[in-house]
Amino acid sequence: MCGIVGYIGEGDAVSILIESLKKLEYRGYDSAGLALLDDEGKPQVFKSEGEISQLESILPKLSSCVGIGHTRWATHGKPSTVNAHPHVSGSICVVHNGIIENYQELKEALESEGFIFVSDTDTEVLAHLINKYHTEHPGDLAGALKSALEVVRGSYALAVLSEEHPHELVAARKDSPLIIGLGENENFIASDIPAILKYTNRVIYVDNLEMVTVKKTSVQVFDLEGNPKTKEEHIIQWDLEAAEKAGYPHFMLKEIHEQTSSIHETLAGRLQELEGDVTFEELGLDKEQIRKLQRIEIIACGTSYNAGLVGKYLFEGQTGIHTDVDNGSEFRYSNPVLAPSTLVIAITQSGETADTLAAVREAASYGCKTLAITNVVGSTMSREASNTIYTRAGPEIGVAATKSFISQLVVLYLLAIHFARVCSMMDADRVRKLLSELRKIPGHVDRILMDKERIQKCAARFSASKDYFFIGRNINYPIALEGALKLKEISYIHAEGYAAGELKHGPLALLSKDVPVVAIAPQGHTYDKILSNIREVKSREASVIAIADSDDNEISKYVDVVIPIPKTDVILSPLLTTVVVQLLAYYTALERDCSIDKPRNLAKSVTVE
Ligand code: M6R
Repeated sequence: MCGIVGYIGEGDAVSILIESLKKLEYRGYDSAGLALLDDEGKPQVFKSEGEISQLESILPKLSSCVGIGHTRWATHGKPSTVNAHPHVSGSICVVHNGIIENYQELKEALESEGFIFVSDTDTEVLAHLINKYHTEHPGDLAGALKSALEVVRGSYALAVLSEEHPHELVAARKDSPLIIGLGENENFIASDIPAILKYTNRVIYVDNLEMVTVKKTSVQVFDLEGNPKTKEEHIIQWDLEAAEKAGYPHFMLKEIHEQTSSIHETLAGRLQELEGDVTFEELGLDKEQIRKLQRIEIIACGTSYNAGLVGKYLFEGQTGIHTDVDNGSEFRYSNPVLAPSTLVIAITQSGETADTLAAVREAASYGCKTLAITNVVGSTMSREASNTIYTRAGPEIGVAATKSFISQLVVLYLLAIHFARVCSMMDADRVRKLLSELRKIPGHVDRILMDKERIQKCAARFSASKDYFFIGRNINYPIALEGALKLKEISYIHAEGYAAGELKHGPLALLSKDVPVVAIAPQGHTYDKILSNIREVKSREASVIAIADSDDNEISKYVDVVIPIPKTDVILSPLLTTVVVQLLAYYTALERDCSIDKPRNLAKSVTVE
């Protein structure tokens, strides 16, 4: 996730673009840059590693009325000045948010035509492509962009500046957000509304597969065939604080909603539907090494640990590779039994959790290969692990991990599918079916989000409870743990996550009519078992909230509330049941007037032992 901005008008482009970028820092802040045309129409490009304030500190005094800017959250190539946007080719400067999936093949083709690449980014291919088509048809910047977009695969919100077209900017969108701000003798381009709200509240939402030519006094929107489109102007009523959260009252709720797009980002460029496989550039393990793996050891803390438990069900169930999951804090003092044939996977959203880092260092001392799954490019974990897979969920501000967890799960699904394919435990047909179901998950998540009032009502009904239980079986047992963790973390209600079959070994003694039990019960091979567990709970007079498949007509006979989820392959169901438990925790905390984004006693990144 990155932020892009553009300005053309009569104002001071430098200060406007810097102010706008600061409002987008929530989208990423590892490097930033501007491209401007100065008073003489000459392009000036400034880039810097670090936050926007660092970029600001290197800017000379410069008079300019047109420019583009970018704040980066690295996905391809480490955070550095050379990888910061704008990327430049000839007279073309580009800022981009998204991922160009086929950049490697495009890069090779462009290099063979003599284009020279200086960065490790996928975006640089866009700059060279637009330059190439613009050279072939000079005078038509929008046409050059259109031709470039015909050959790229992936997602983009991008803006283009050219010294040969000082009176226009062009922009386009596919699967990454883009808006146009309308002013008097000035217009704006941005990834999100907060960027422009200081200057105007008149906005056009750019839709998927639309291009825009933005001039000082006009804005024209086209489809990718070049046909003009009529767009509605919207007046934004939010104040700036609300706008930074995109109108949501809390970052947590915003981030829960962002899961539809973060799942897309995590999947981007990694699915090979034709071959029935998954590809990870960053894996660092060839097929032979994967086949020789005897064991997987997953190390993580908190929510990331719960993701690791889902990983255990996936690796053991799909690949037959024995998998253990340990908390970083325990593992580091446990005299682990490890051999070089063990793959150690460290899962950490921040990449800075002290216990996980120490545990991985311990594992590496046994000669094991270490693979990090993290959200933060350039984090300590990414620098220390043998290899790193990035989750690409974008910055997460709420202390409660939500979209980063879902993205960790998606990476684990993809890894398990790849390992299963390599070890001949899954055939291409089964992989294709799973990948096609995975592609549907963002749409399913969207449907759960549209039904959130039902979850809110349920949360309100039980919000005065002192204790809560979450139960699940098999691959949804970790989601019971995650539901309990989320609830206690932000609503301060005591909550326990249990494997449903374990209730009778102790916790049943705690159940009464005042203790709600959330039963995660999509249909699968343990469905009948959890129905029995629900009956055990009901006979202790506890209220049961079931998370069940939307076509399940049976379960409502036994429970007090049903929260339906769209039907998917049961092994993918944690991607949906998670969203329900997140919303349940959120609305319970809201009802109890808790500090949702900054719960007491907790921090986003735990860098101490
Ligand atoms: O950054 P990490 O994923 O390593 O963090 C681990 C835990 O501190 C973290 O998941 C914590 O449990 C979350 N705040 C829970 O929402």
